[in-house]
Amino acid sequence: MGQPMRHSDFEILAREDFSDVTYSLVIDHPLMARAAQPGQFVIVMSHPEGERIPLTIADFDRAKGTVTLVVQAVGKTTKEMQQTCRVGSRLYGLVGPMGMPSPLGHAKKVVCVGGGLGVAPVYPQARGFKEHGAYVIGVLGFRTKKLIFWEDKFRACCDELILCTDDGSAGMKGFVSDGIKHAIAGHPKIDEVVAIGPPVMMKACAEVTRPHGIKTVVSLNPIMVDGTGMCGGCRVKIGDEVKFACVDGPDFDGHKVDFDDLMMRLRRYAEEEKAAVARWSEQCRMRGDVAAPGMAAASSPATGSFDEDPDPFDEVPGG
Ligand SMILES: Cc1cc2nc3c(=O)[nH]c(=O)nc-3n(C[C@H](O)[C@H](O)[C@H](O)COP(=O)(O)OP(=O)(O)OC[C@H]3O[C@@H](n4cnc5c(N)ncnc54)[C@H](O)[C@@H]3O)c2cc1C
Ligand code: FES
Repeated sequence: MGQPMRHSDFEILAREDFSDVTYSLVIDHPLMARAAQPGQFVIVMSHPEGERIPLTIADFDRAKGTVTLVVQAVGKTTKEMQQTCRVGSRLYGLVGPMGMPSPLGHAKKVVCVGGGLGVAPVYPQARGFKEHGAYVIGVLGFRTKKLIFWEDKFRACCDELILCTDDGSAGMKGFVSDGIKHAIAGHPKIDEVVAIGPPVMMKACAEVTRPHGIKTVVSLNPIMVDGTGMCGGCRVKIGDEVKFACVDGPDFDGHKVDFDDLMMRLRRYAEEEKAAVARWSEQCRMRGDVAAPGMAAASSPATGSFDEDPDPFDEVPGG
């Protein structure tokens, strides 16, 4: 008799908590690390009954055979992962790399913009542009100083770094759109701006660059199901065309994206998402689990932060 087939799960080698709701996971996956390109994402199942959720490959190390995900706990699955994903535990499924890699070859001077959680997915692009010889200006935006993460990683790959906080507690006071204006004022010839963050932030960034005619790439985060172009769940409107973000993107021309349609579609399952958190929180309460940090209380979901904070990129409120 042969050996029973072993499911290939993926060990979490390191974890860092950046705030009450944001955490990074370094995962052992040499094949994924070898194949990953900036701009791509994975679909994760944390356990056999878990939901499949798309997460951007925020970093990869081909030599160590690791990929890094940065997750914001906004709903049932990401809050559950916040509780269960510990060093030494394993993710049940990790499919990818998915999506089109970001083209990095041609730009000589680029501005890489990340807002809140969007700081993580823009990192591989900033590093990739630098490796391709571009002059890289990083613009990072956070609500406040204590939410800042990966400043050191950006300093290592950016020629200039403009740090923005909404309350002025670090860097310049203002939104990332102000940071882009600052970069444009100092550099008459910018080839490209890459902006990743909440849809409202990416929309504001695209409006800043539009009058200057600067190519602006944004990374879209519609609801995804299969991630392979089969279900149509991730449909986005780009100019006159309909595209599937999972196979045609997630990067698109920010001047053509219909952001209002994207935001409307992201809110489509709000009731079901709220009910899923409520059910899960009740199960946690029955088991006597400790509430994940950032949850007001697992036992009182109606008053939890979820109600106010359903946006997966919501550590900056907007442009
Ligand atoms: C290409 C891509 C890359 C992403 N990268 C990251 C990342 O690096 N880090 C991160 O924290 N989040 C990322 N997201 C968003 C992440 O997938 C959602 O936050 C997650 O699916 C929410 O699941 P939940 O059960 O915790 O919350 P839910 O309560 O189910 O949803 C909370 C909100 O997340 C969005 N969402 C829900 N389900 C999905 C889904 N299947 N696909 C996409 N969005 C969904 C909806 O807007 C919803 O309002 C990415 C999304 C996409 C499409
Ligand atoms: S997620 Fe199904 S088509 Fe893109």
